[in-house]
Parts: sequence; C-alpha cells; structure tokens
Amino acid sequence: MCGIVGYIGKEDAASFLLQSLKRLEYRGYDSAGIAVIERGRLVRVRRAGKVRDLEAALGDTPLAATVGIGHTRWATHGAPTDENAHPHVDCNGRIAVIHNGIIENHAPLRRKLADEGHVFSSDTDTEVLAHLIESLDDGNLLEAVRRAVAQAEGAFAVAVLSQDHPDRIIVAKRGSPLVVGRGDDASFISSDVPALLGRASEVQFLADGEFGEVTRDGYHLFALDGRPVQGTPHRVSMDPVAIQKGGYKHFMQKEIHEQPRSVGETIREKTEPTGAGLSLPGVERVPTDFDHVYFVACGTAYHAAKVAEYLWEDALPVPAHAVIASEFRLRNPHITPRTLVVAVSQSGETIDTLMAVRLARSRGAHVLALVNSEQSAIERESHGAVYTRAGVEIGVAATKTFTAQIAALGLLGMALAERRGGIPAPGTGDALRELALLPGRIVEALRVEERVKTLAEKLRRASDVLFLARGVLYPIALEGALKLKEISYIHAEGYPAGEMKHGPIALIDEDTPVLMLAARGPAYDKLLSNMEEVKARKGFVVAVSDAPDDPNLVRLADEVLPVPASTGIALPILFTIPLQLLAYYVAVARGTDVDQPRNLAKTVTVE
Ligand code: F6R
Repeated sequence: MCGIVGYIGKEDAASFLLQSLKRLEYRGYDSAGIAVIERGRLVRVRRAGKVRDLEAALGDTPLAATVGIGHTRWATHGAPTDENAHPHVDCNGRIAVIHNGIIENHAPLRRKLADEGHVFSSDTDTEVLAHLIESLDDGNLLEAVRRAVAQAEGAFAVAVLSQDHPDRIIVAKRGSPLVVGRGDDASFISSDVPALLGRASEVQFLADGEFGEVTRDGYHLFALDGRPVQGTPHRVSMDPVAIQKGGYKHFMQKEIHEQPRSVGETIREKTEPTGAGLSLPGVERVPTDFDHVYFVACGTAYHAAKVAEYLWEDALPVPAHAVIASEFRLRNPHITPRTLVVAVSQSGETIDTLMAVRLARSRGAHVLALVNSEQSAIERESHGAVYTRAGVEIGVAATKTFTAQIAALGLLGMALAERRGGIPAPGTGDALRELALLPGRIVEALRVEERVKTLAEKLRRASDVLFLARGVLYPIALEGALKLKEISYIHAEGYPAGEMKHGPIALIDEDTPVLMLAARGPAYDKLLSNMEEVKARKGFVVAVSDAPDDPNLVRLADEVLPVPASTGIALPILFTIPLQLLAYYVAVARGTDVDQPRNLAKTVTVE
C-alpha cells in the first residue's frame, strides 16, 4: 500500500525513481508521481493510473536531475486523480512531500493553515504536511520537518525535497515502514527493500519517531529529541533475481511454482541438519507455562492461523484461537501473563495485526511474531520472532507465504510441545521424516496444472463458487475462496461442509460450481455424503482429493483434481496447491490483472 522511493547521487534521478516505483508496484496503488530538482527548480510530474502512465507523461526528454523522490499512492483521502497523486507541494511549489500512512488530524491542521492563507489544491491528508513545513521553514528544513511531524497524529512515513536544499532529502517515520540506504556514489530511501536491490549495498530501517537527512554521502538519523541515532545498518542480501518473473507470465504463477523451495527452506531452517529433530531459534525464550494461545492475523495469514488452531490443538493440549486482528481489539480477549499471542503476517507491517500486538503486550501477554521479513514493525514490537523463509513475494495475492506460514506454524507448535514436555512429543521423528518429503510432494501436486487450466475455462463464467471442506482443510476452503475472489472477481465462499445444510445449500443449482476438499481420514465419508447432497441439487462438483481413484468419489464428482497423499502439516499445504492454480487460471481466462488486482494492496498499512 503506497510506495516511497528517493535518490540522491550522480546519475539520472528520474529514471532511477521510475525503475524503483515499478519494483514497488506489487504493493498496490492507483496513481504515481515524482519530484526532482532540475537546474535549481523543483519539477513535479504526477498521473492517476500506472507507473507506465507516469513514464509516458514524462516523455522521452530526460530530466537533468540527480536528486528526487517518487511515490505510488493507494487512495485513502480523495479519489485516485492526478491532483491527489503525490508528491504534494507547498503554496510556492518549492517543497515537495510524499507520504505513506494517514495524518489523522489533517482536518484541523488544514483549517488552521487555510486561515493563515495557505491554498490547497488536493483532497489529501498529505498536502497539509507540505504547507505545515512551509509555515515552519526558516532555513532549517530538517528542523521544519521535525516540528511538522511532531504536530501530526497517526502513522506515517514521509520524505521531503526542497528546491532551497537540493543537496538533501529529509525523512521521518512513525508507524509506516521506511528504509534509507547507501550504494556506490549514491544514497536512497524506500518504503521497502526490494526497490533498492542491486543498488544499495546496505540499508537501515528507521525506528518509530526517527527522522533524518539523506545526502549524496550517506545519511544522518536522529531520535525525536534530536539525539543522533547510530542504528544498525544491514547488508542487502536479497538477490535482484527474486524480483523478476523468471520466464513465468505472472509473479503469482512464479510464486506458486516456488513453493517446493519456499516451504523447503522454511522447514530446513527449523529442523536439525540430520532432519531428526527440531531447532527453532527464538522459541527458547517463550515461557513454557502458557495456558492458552491467540493467533492474530488478517486475510490469508488468518487462514494459516486457522490451520494452526487445528495443528496446535493436536500437538499442544491448550486452547488455541485464531482471531482476525481487526476484531481482536473490539472484543475483550482473555489475556493474562499466561497467554501466548502469535502474530502471523507476511509483511510484518499490517497495521491491524500490529495494533493487536500492542494490545496483547499492554495486557501482559507474551507475543511472538511469525513474519516473512526481518526487522518489520510487528517483529520489533513483539518479544520474539520466528520466520517464514518464503523470499520476497511480489504477487498481491499471497501464495508461497501462506504455505510457508502453515509449515512454520506447524513446526512452532511441535517445538513448543517439546519445550513444555521436556522431550520430543511422540511421533515427532515420523512427522519430520514426512516433512522432509514435502518439497517433492509439492512438485508432484503442481503437475495438476494442465488439468486446472482446462477446468478454469469451465469456471470462468461462474458468478458464485462454493468451497467446502471439513477439519484442518476448512481453512484451506476459506483460502481457496479468498484467492478466487481476489484475482478473478468471482464471488466465492468457503464453508465447513457440515454447515452446508444450515444455509449455503440454498445457493446450489446447476450454475454453482462446488469445490469439495476430500481427504482420506475420519471426515472422508461425511464429505462424500455432502457431495451426494450437492449432486442431488444438480451442483457441478469438483473434488480435490488424495483418493482420486476411489469409485465412490469418481461417481459423484464432475471433475477430480488429484493431490498426493499425506498427513499432518503437509496435508493442508498440498491441498492448497490446486486451489491457488485454479484461482490463477480462472483470473487469466477472465483477463484480470493477476499480480495487481483492483483495489488491493500488498501491505495494508491503514486501519
Ligand atoms: C490475500 C492477502 C491478504 C493478506 C493480508 C495480511 O492474498 O495477501 O489477505 O494476507 O492483508 O497481510 P500480512 O500477511 O502482510 O499481514
């Protein structure tokens, strides 16, 4: 959601900004803009739409500028128009501001500034910052920005460029992520490390309340009280190849195919080199006496947390509840010093999850983050962290991070059971041996791709699709439905199959495809009975099953998508694969923007 980039060096700033903004497209946005200083004058170009529209607006004549800031905006205050696109400028067009997050007190600030004579030209909350900085600027831009953000309420990351100070970019952060970086002969800013891959050799994440100035020679950061901050620079280790499509048509397709590796890496890091035991760095600090667990998460991460409910209730005999993070604060969760809260988030920046973490900590819970990116806000505000090792995910629809979350949560549950019991739980060795085979089984599961592609042609005109499952596959039904609606815009619902008779059965007719996840095991026969009920109402049944040759199943299902047989943590992961492929191919068949579906953002930093 919204992306920030900045460059100050010796090269063409505008082309760097465009290239970096393209790398941030995955975050989700609906307009883009840049501001640079060319021959002592601030030049700003903004466009509603995609970065390519901005590129077209810039034309073929390069701007002679070596310093600039750029932004992709996901509209919150004001429609996605050229006028509302960032950067925003002060009355004289000398100071340009880009901003992620929300200035919550923008209305009173705007009134006060308007009374003082400032003239506004957009509906955004951001523009107040440009005018506020203008009103406070007495020649010391850094100080003006510090005083301006001190008056602002809410969560934000800000970058400021002034034509009166062409040798620096000023930055400030509270809540929303921001990094500064150094490379050969240049310094950078960004909301996200992928924009700087291959350019910055080291980056530093700003902590909340920090602000600073970035010059050609480096950066200087300060705490809110003006004290210089040393901070810890991180070497940039991600490979730029990770953010290329590598021969696939879409990032989502590439990321679906990366799952043997992303799940494999996540497991490998948490098991001993022999594969015989668990080794989870970070778990040793979790108190062993917790008597109940809350998982807090949003969207796809919530579905992974829901899978963990089932896995943990098996592995650890304690009550475990997955709660949608934005709802967590609206109830009165039972939190005591013996509560363990696990915050699950791919980005580590989701504001609802972060707020749930803050609430849990303020009430005395032990909070563990399960995140895909180190140094994220959720990790920093938790007592400890466990990582998924999925690598950077560019497709807005989460795929490889979801399966990595299931793997990591499953292993975390096993490790906590071991820690509480003092010895490995019975069956740990077998479970780990099965997990060692999982990457190979994911490769096998991906072989269903061609069949899914053909099926997608049949489903592309559906207006409603149901996903039904029982037990640990119920959250996978929820995830299958979410994936389909996100990228194909077809309405889809996931339900526990046992609930069908209590309402959703009313939807079933010959035009309603029903995806039924049928895994061998205690719920299998009941699922087949549900299939009978759907068939009796002429529903179109697609069975996703690890018993694809069972004559009873073959008799009932119109289509069968096979899944390799498995148990435990592997089972929900393997059943996810055909559903991700189905969402992908239905979206491709409908011609939607698969990697950047409408209205969605990758990192949701507003409540
Ligand atoms: C769906 C999707 C979202 C995210 C949700 C939480 O494909 O990507 O539902 O799962 O916004 O994001 P994180 O995991 O970054 O907290």
